[in-house]
This record gives sequence, structure tokens and C-alpha cells, in this order.
Amino acid sequence: MSSSESGYLLAGQASELQRLQLQSRVWEPAGRSLLAELPAPAGAKALEVGCGVMGWLRVLSEWVGAEGQVLGTDVDDKMLAGARQFVQDEALANVTLARDDLFASALPEASFDLVHARFQIAPLGRAEAQLAAFRRWLRPGGWLVLEDPDLASWRVHPDAPAAMALIALIEQGFRASGGDFNAGRALPTWLRSIGLQPRVRAQVLALEPGHPYLRLPVQFATALKPRLQALLPAAELDALIARAEDEIARPDAWGTTFTLIQVAARV
Ligand SMILES: C[S@@+](CC[C@H](N)C(=O)[O-])C[C@H]1O[C@@H](n2cnc3c(N)ncnc32)[C@H](O)[C@@H]1O
Repeated sequence: MSSSESGYLLAGQASELQRLQLQSRVWEPAGRSLLAELPAPAGAKALEVGCGVMGWLRVLSEWVGAEGQVLGTDVDDKMLAGARQFVQDEALANVTLARDDLFASALPEASFDLVHARFQIAPLGRAEAQLAAFRRWLRPGGWLVLEDPDLASWRVHPDAPAAMALIALIEQGFRASGGDFNAGRALPTWLRSIGLQPRVRAQVLALEPGHPYLRLPVQFATALKPRLQALLPAAELDALIARAEDEIARPDAWGTTFTLIQVAARV
């Protein structure tokens, strides 16, 4: 499937591939610390849904161990090519990749000990259909692990009005595309609605001056420009992005990330 057909609102852009790789590295410690609480059976099989260029491929490779297997899936060939490069560079011998559309999946049912999906409900919506697929792929006793954002904590300091205005626009842009940047808030309720008892965690990171992830509002707004222009005239949007870029480049600019909500439940 081509990028434009996948329906993913940031599909296929080179800047998006770089953003996802940086984001995956930033959140790896949060992933490792959650996985440390979940026992892996010998020879475990784990599925990374919508793996993008990296996702949890490395942390799941560690979790399943040398005898286990990780399958990373995505619907976008450019993402899969990036993931393939990452798996090769890192010599992750227990990781394989496959093209699969989570809404029309060819994956076998009841075949994974852990299914993980991060930032899938926020951009794509259709939570009910996603949860049904995740549940179907899990073996009895397997773990469903989901991560999505809540933007309440996403801030740049000292006062950065243009960056904050971009964050508000990004939230609107997600909603206008059928997603929800605050999807993380609903994850516990979604899991309970399918009869699961989730453990819930929340992670916020402090970003020091110069941290590349501080530029996330600018990167997102640039990638989402075609959609955001429906909310703000193009020239005003460009001016806002430029002002936010200046705010974030100040030598004392620091920030906090959005809150990463993590839920894990055994089926
Ligand atoms: C926001 S990115 C998140 C990537 C990765 N999970 C991470 O956390 O870095 C969403 C990913 O879902 C993929 N995607 C979009 N629609 C999909 C579908 N129907 N089935 C599988 N993957 C899909 C996109 O290509 C993209 O790689």
C-alpha cells in the first residue's frame, strides 16, 4: 500500500521518518521499564503493530530473548524499509518485518504472547476496531500493551506563546483528521470495555536546552501543514512556526514532553 492510501495523516514524509526514529529513542527507557514488570515466557512471540521505523523493535527483541521472536508490522513500505535498515544495523536476529494492515490483517489469531501498539489510536482513531484486532492476535494469558499521548504536560519554558499555539493547533489538526492527540486518557477505559484489567502508568520527560525532541511542535506543525492550513491561513501558520522555532532555539529554552500513558493487561 502506498503512503497516501494508508490514511495515516503524516504518511511517508522523510521528516516524519526522522521524527519517529528520534521519538522511539526518547521513549525506549519508558518501554524497558514497563517490560521489566511483565514476565516473558520461554521462546516468547511478540508483535509490534505499526512499528514505523523503529518503535519497540529493539526493546521487544531484548524482552523475548535469543529463543524468542518479534514480528514488526506496518502498512507503509517506506516505514518498513526504515525499520529493515534499523534491524540490520542493530543486528536484531530475532526480529522479522511484514507488511500488514491492522484493519484488514492477514496475521494468524491467538499467536502472540505480547501485542504492543504505540501512537496508533491517537493518529488513526477507530479504537474499537484496533482493540478487536489486538485482542484477536493474543494467546490466552498474553499481554496487551498500549501507549498513547495525553498532551496536558506538553510545554516549553520560559513562556513560549507561539510554541503553545502550535501545540493547540496540532491538537485541532488531529481531531479534524479523525484522531485524538489525547487518546492516552481513554486507554484504561477502552481496555476495561473489552473486559481487561489494565495497570496504568504515565511518563513525562524533562527536555534540557538544545534537546532535539524540544522541536516536536515545529516538526509536527511542519508535517501537518496541509491540514493545519484549513485552520489558519498559510502565511500566519508559517509565521507562527518561525516564531516557535525562535522560542525553542533560545539558549535557556527547556520543556516537558506530552504525557505518555502506558497500559498493560493480561488477556
Ligand atoms: C505515529 S506512527 C507510530 C510508529 C511507531 N508505533 C512508534 O511509536 O514509533 C503510526 C504508524 O502506523 C502505521 N500505520 C498507519 N495505518 C496503519 C494500518 N492500517 N496498519 C498498520 N500500520 C499502520 C504508519 O505507517 C506509522 O508507521
